Amino acid sequence: MTFIIGCSNAENLCRKAARLANVKLARSETKIFPDGDLYVRVDGNLEGEKVLLVQSGYPNQNSALMELFLALDAVKDMDPKRVSVMLAYMPYSKQDRRFKGGEAVSAGTVLKLIKGLGADRFYAINLHFAGGRADFHFFNVGVRNLNAAPLVADYVGSKYGDFTAVLPGKGSNYLLTDNVIPLETRRQEYRASGGRYFGGSGILGKDIDVGGKTVLVLDDIVSTGGTMAKACDMMRRKGAKRVISACIHGLFVDGAVKKLENAGADEIISTDTIESGFSKVSVAPLIAGVVKKI
Ligand code: R5P
Repeated sequence: MTFIIGCSNAENLCRKAARLANVKLARSETKIFPDGDLYVRVDGNLEGEKVLLVQSGYPNQNSALMELFLALDAVKDMDPKRVSVMLAYMPYSKQDRRFKGGEAVSAGTVLKLIKGLGADRFYAINLHFAGGRADFHFFNVGVRNLNAAPLVADYVGSKYGDFTAVLPGKGSNYLLTDNVIPLETRRQEYRASGGRYFGGSGILGKDIDVGGKTVLVLDDIVSTGGTMAKACDMMRRKGAKRVISACIHGLFVDGAVKKLENAGADEIISTDTIESGFSKVSVAPLIAGVVKKI
């Protein structure tokens, strides 16, 4: 039999995916002890079964990852036939290399831990550093990466009809291929400020014509909303009839939503790799597709 297990940030998503794929849903129970330690218990007999264990790395990326590691170890102890792990949103995916000596390559660390705990396969959805690659190796870990952008495009197309897509993110120019205008983004170095890190991005103005059109501005991640807000504002100034702000992974930190509204976004859309009030598109069909193949 095949089982899908959702850690706490992916419970709803897995319920939907299990229903779509018609596979069993096993429960993972998580508690936090008063001192902050996590308790995880996976319910069910998984001996000899195929398992897809899913987590999303936001919110609370550090405890979300720890919960995933504990659940994976617990599942492995039950001697399943095969365990695949999916991070619907992978945190730490922007630190995929050593920019300065001594830095941790955090994305590599996360994947090494998942492999080290015995995952047979690793899946992700719009993994930031993959840049559109679907099947590749990173630190000797095989990665299968799915693209949820066509689901977003279907949603926008069925609601608004024809549209032009504008892709402002540095690593998002692969998201869609039809009717697309990629924008060039210049990212400044991340700077430390009062113990926090922030980065700035500049979108290079181009002689693009979106006058009177419905424009879908689509990025893989909206974090602080700076990149998306600049692109939406640019589309407004260039005379777009309607500006839709959409992303796969909506973190919406640091007043991002306000920035998007102020930039003239008519609608804000995200998928449910990270659940929020803007999760209007579900990636459950992608997960259902995976679980049928594991
Ligand atoms: C950058 O490489 C990504 O594709 C996004 O453009 C970026 O993560 C967005 O960040 P923010 O919302 O903070 O501008």
